[in-house]
Amino acid sequence: MKKMLLIIPIVLSLMIFSQVIAAEKKVKKVIHYTPDAEYMGLENPLTKANPKTLPDNDPNILAGKRLYEATCAVCHGVRSDGKGPEADGFMTPIRPVDFTDTDAIAALDQGYILWRIDTGGFDEPFYSAMPAWKDDFTETEKWQIILYIYKNAGVSPKGKK
Ligand code: HEC
Repeated sequence: MKKMLLIIPIVLSLMIFSQVIAAEKKVKKVIHYTPDAEYMGLENPLTKANPKTLPDNDPNILAGKRLYEATCAVCHGVRSDGKGPEADGFMTPIRPVDFTDTDAIAALDQGYILWRIDTGGFDEPFYSAMPAWKDDFTETEKWQIILYIYKNAGVSPKGKK
């Protein structure tokens, strides 16, 4: 009986602990930072249109799709749902972002996304498994990828609702 009395509070506190961890994971699913000033409020130079409304055969969408599928889909998933084949290997609560989530790119403008493509990696503030891609793409290619991630996720950038 004495043992039981000891075990019950231990089990209870473990249960509470795991709830707290679960809640923390939920809160930390997507973290947004303050981008460098030069990225703030940048418009996509390729088009002023809402990327979500661009046709499937738009040349920038097609180019963005090709680049996204070759580079980003391993983590963020072909459907932009954060379920790429690499995603399950992540041991941290911060996982490849599900772009269809209304708290993710739908809450951001395109300048912020450019900043996230250019910067990243294990350094402050990200401590992220996502590398920085600054020198891997031309500026045009980056903007094409940005158009595509909105289109593919079916969400609009902040301010283009
Ligand atoms: C190795 C896996 C991996 C690859 C490949 C990858 N990402 Fe990520 N990405 C992540 C992780 C993990 C996060 C969440 C942590 C963070 O914010 O850095 C993330 C976050 C992001 C965010 C921030 C979203 C938000 O709501 O704050 C954007 C935008 C993004 N990725 C775009 C891309 C693009 C575009 C590519 C391809 C050029 C790409 N990622 C490739 C793992 C990856």
